[in-house]
Amino acid sequence: MRTNIVHEGADELSYEIRGIVRVAERLQGLGVDIVWENIGDPVAKGESVPEWIKDIVAETMRDDASFGYSPTKGVTAARDFIAAERFRESGVILRPEDILFFNGLGDAISIVYTYLRRSARVMGPCPAYPTHSSAEAAHAGAPHITYTLDPRNGWYPDIEDIRNKVRYNPAVAGILIINPDNPTGMVYPLSVLEEIVAIAREYGLFLVSDETYAMLSHGSEKMMPLYEVIGDDVPAIVMRGLSKEVPWPGSRCGWIEVYNKDRDPVFVRYIKTLVDAKMLEVCSTTLPQMALPRILGDARFAEHVRSRADKYLRKADIACAAFSDIPGTLAPRPESSFYYSLVFEDGILNDTQTLPIADAAIRAYVEEETRNVTPDKRFVLYLMAATGVCVVPLSGFNTDLPGFRMTLLEPDEEKFKTTVGDISDAIRNYIASA
Ligand SMILES: Cc1ncc(COP(=O)(O)O)c(C=O)c1O
Repeated sequence: MRTNIVHEGADELSYEIRGIVRVAERLQGLGVDIVWENIGDPVAKGESVPEWIKDIVAETMRDDASFGYSPTKGVTAARDFIAAERFRESGVILRPEDILFFNGLGDAISIVYTYLRRSARVMGPCPAYPTHSSAEAAHAGAPHITYTLDPRNGWYPDIEDIRNKVRYNPAVAGILIINPDNPTGMVYPLSVLEEIVAIAREYGLFLVSDETYAMLSHGSEKMMPLYEVIGDDVPAIVMRGLSKEVPWPGSRCGWIEVYNKDRDPVFVRYIKTLVDAKMLEVCSTTLPQMALPRILGDARFAEHVRSRADKYLRKADIACAAFSDIPGTLAPRPESSFYYSLVFEDGILNDTQTLPIADAAIRAYVEEETRNVTPDKRFVLYLMAATGVCVVPLSGFNTDLPGFRMTLLEPDEEKFKTTVGDISDAIRNYIASA
């Protein structure tokens, strides 16, 4: 090539949640029965979609309009519904024109960072959901700037770390909050959110709050949406979607809600860029937007989500009981959603530890795959080869903390108990092996 065509951020793109599938499929080919605990798709994991939701989608599809384009910002009835919901829930005024639909939040995340000025940075949590950290890093052509989520303090954000990084790095223009969080499953207390809002207010920053799991909290901490905390001055983007709560990840339907836009002319211009970018794409998928008011507005919806969250709560308890007393590990109990992350303490993992694998071909393959990988990925690969359980190394979430994330999605509780039992035994045996 006479000109280098590679994007400056090319090395920043990684998504281990799906990357690990390549190894899992090879192991499947060698006869290992894989238990998929890597991806947060309730439907793929066997949760059934209620008939009443299917009926709404089927009826919506009978309307020819669902086959057409929708307005750039999204179907008007869907935006009116969301704005009315916010007012009903908390008296917050959200104008329908300040809602913009995307093809899933993955699309929203990509556009939000792509159209930021290159030198402007959004600092995010560490560990980080990789779609955010990769997209933000790729936009800047530099590693993502992060603040610490502390596993010794319930995975809460380290406020001093945020304050210092904002104070000493003028490139930080915004702070990302993921609440409830992926991969930790934590819900942030009101006081933590208030402190982050205060920092944004003091330094003239905007906030991004990814609340894709908003209705799935099941612990003692009540999920507090950002729009209830920001007041009427801090510009913010709140991200919500259909993927996890309905659940309908295949709808590829998510949206952003823009708060306090008019407080800053630069923010007004930036948000207009996002709308213009969506206009170039024409619009987002129409069918799920048309079905949205009927699904989310149905009297059965709240109970449907609550009963799912109750099941995750029970599985969080089961996993917590299996993991909480393993020496050399930290496994704070999640308060929401369907993820559980376990961290190995410093110095616990080394590159001589293994698990027994009887089959010579499988052993040879895992030995080859574990060359030059992070210590937690090494554990994850041995775990998969020895037990079939496929989890995601925490290093895939842009962190130096070694560990892994699994899901709480398995609908069969007995099978789930077996899985966490296998993981717990594997951790103990792996640590003890060297
Ligand atoms: C925190 C978070 N944000 C966004 C997404 C992407 O969701 P969507 O299916 O809407 O693209 C996910 C998916 O797992 C997620 O965990």
